[in-house]
Amino acid sequence: MRPRFGDYGFELDESKGNTAMDSQLALDQINQRAWNSRDASREFLRSESWIDPGEKAAFEQIADECRDQPLLDIGIGAGRTIPLMMQLSSNYTGIDYTAKLLDHARTRYPNLNLHHMDARDMMALQTDAFALTAFSCNGIDCVNYEDRVLILREMFRVTRPGGLVWFSSHNRDGAGFQDSVLKLLPRFTPNPLRYGWRTLRAIRKLPLACYNYTRHARFHRNYEGYSIKTAAAHFFGILIIYTTLAEQRRQLESLGFVVEAVYGCGDGKRIGEDARTSDATWLHFIARKPAHPVA
Ligand SMILES: C[S@@+](CC[C@H](N)C(=O)[O-])C[C@H]1O[C@@H](n2cnc3c(N)ncnc32)[C@H](O)[C@@H]1O
Repeated sequence: MRPRFGDYGFELDESKGNTAMDSQLALDQINQRAWNSRDASREFLRSESWIDPGEKAAFEQIADECRDQPLLDIGIGAGRTIPLMMQLSSNYTGIDYTAKLLDHARTRYPNLNLHHMDARDMMALQTDAFALTAFSCNGIDCVNYEDRVLILREMFRVTRPGGLVWFSSHNRDGAGFQDSVLKLLPRFTPNPLRYGWRTLRAIRKLPLACYNYTRHARFHRNYEGYSIKTAAAHFFGILIIYTTLAEQRRQLESLGFVVEAVYGCGDGKRIGEDARTSDATWLHFIARKPAHPVA
């Protein structure tokens, strides 16, 4: 019997076990469903400022160079990054492939250049157009590894020679890679009221989190330099790529970028070129498209 697997839209042969291709396919479908959830809208509408000190530090590094220049912001969700980026320049374009989140952004920021577009195919945008192309909040981790390469190629194409790309990505060597539903158990506090509140919150979250985690765990895979694993966000509702510092640097360089800086999310400290690893949960990468094609 070939059971239909929930509403992922494709069939899995449980007798053979799931193939690597199932994991790569599932990742895109699971995440697109998560972005359309009520929880995603609620969370993205609430967030307004920097997600972490590393994001702020990376922004400060690129700010002077990108002031008053054309900026492309990929995966804007409900628009958290719009006011942050527009501090730099009003020559701003934002895109997202989730119509529901984009509608929130359009309602909050009418009259801006906001487009419904998938970062894997940005042919509607001109080549060599932007001084900065950014994909914030680990959005690039939400597509499979081949598609990640497509996105980075597109980011390279639309960035002008000498311009910058900036994105963050989950770190397989960071603590978040070990997350399981145990993370949601209430933390002890001697204050009975607070402990009671934390317990109620856990009771509310755990059933859906356990359900999602169990469904998504079948897609977990480890590869050379990266892994596919469910992440705690949206009640363990997303399945993402975790890569390593060394692998991400290698991938960027293989696509023609020059890596300029890497920041850890937690302390916002710059991670040196020689570091073989980092324990940050995610990393912010700034890379440059060379001004002249490399021979
Ligand atoms: C983690 S959310 C972050 C939203 C927003 N940048 C923020 O920081 O609040 C990731 C966003 O990336 C978008 N996204 C993921 N993959 C995408 C793709 N291939 N093309 C365009 N948008 C994408 C999702 O729709 C979602 O809005």
